[in-house]
Amino acid sequence: IYNTSIPHSKDVIKIGTLLPYSGVYTVLGEEITNAMSLAFDEINNTISGKTIEIIRGDTEVKPNIALQKSRKLISSDKVDILVGPVSSSVALAVRDIVVQTKTPLIIPNAGANILTGEKCSKFITRISFSNYQINAPMGKWLANKGIKTAFLLAPNYAAGKEMMTAFKDNFIAAGGKVLGEEYTPFRKTKDFGPYLARIKDSGADAVYVFYAGGEAINFIKQAHSFGLSDVMKLTGAGWTTSPLFLPAQKDAAVGFIGSLNYVPSINTEDNINFKKSYYEKFKRLPSEFAVQGYDSGKVIIEAIKSVSGDISNKDNLADAIRTVSIT
Ligand code: BEZ
Repeated sequence: IYNTSIPHSKDVIKIGTLLPYSGVYTVLGEEITNAMSLAFDEINNTISGKTIEIIRGDTEVKPNIALQKSRKLISSDKVDILVGPVSSSVALAVRDIVVQTKTPLIIPNAGANILTGEKCSKFITRISFSNYQINAPMGKWLANKGIKTAFLLAPNYAAGKEMMTAFKDNFIAAGGKVLGEEYTPFRKTKDFGPYLARIKDSGADAVYVFYAGGEAINFIKQAHSFGLSDVMKLTGAGWTTSPLFLPAQKDAAVGFIGSLNYVPSINTEDNINFKKSYYEKFKRLPSEFAVQGYDSGKVIIEAIKSVSGDISNKDNLADAIRTVSIT
């Protein structure tokens, strides 16, 4: 069904994105795409004499839509490489088509654990994190900081579940107790009021949450108005107060304790240079999503260079993507 051997214009490298350009994670999709474009702009959109073309696929943060878009990008547009997605559930939905068609997929965000575990493939390279990685250390760390009890809250889909499990297992192993956990309808929850009331009533020392995009903005603002931080610590996966959401969250985010794979304040020469070029183009600080998009672009550039621009053999291209080294 998927004929991947039809040649297309030899002078163009087609990069298909499977990212959210509408729905709850829109700003994340735009940030990843912008930063990837920045990496390509730095080399004049040309690698080994070939021009880079980006073809956008809007997943809408919906697994079934993402599957349709991936079919289109692979079969009709004949992309050479796919970059995406943001959502773990979307990543799980497109996993098999990517592997069956041998289309190299670079994951710039989605943390679904099994994609780099039981369901790993040489055609899937994640340059971001697994949901376990970011949340497991917080269980032990918070317990060691004297937090004895926690209430968990996250959106009801793969990422929310995996992140809370990673936290919970490590928190309990370190002597902590979970007093309650709730999963909010994903992409549909706007009013966190009833949840905030139950979290407060639990009497826990801390709430541990994961939210991103519009849900992170709403949760943090509502928790602030509700005065939740007067009675317990607000903690969780660091995306909840990502630099991308701070302009909307403002002071409501102050005091949140989170873990993350990147913060703009890292004081290295590479990061200072990256922040400068990002600022020149977008007039603001990059978030971790920007780094993940930029890194995706860098990996693509180095991989294609390492095969001297010959992307006709998908196995070789996938091997190159997996083995290149970037800072
Ligand atoms: C995920 O679905 O894997 C995810 C979404 C937003 C931020 C982090 C992870």
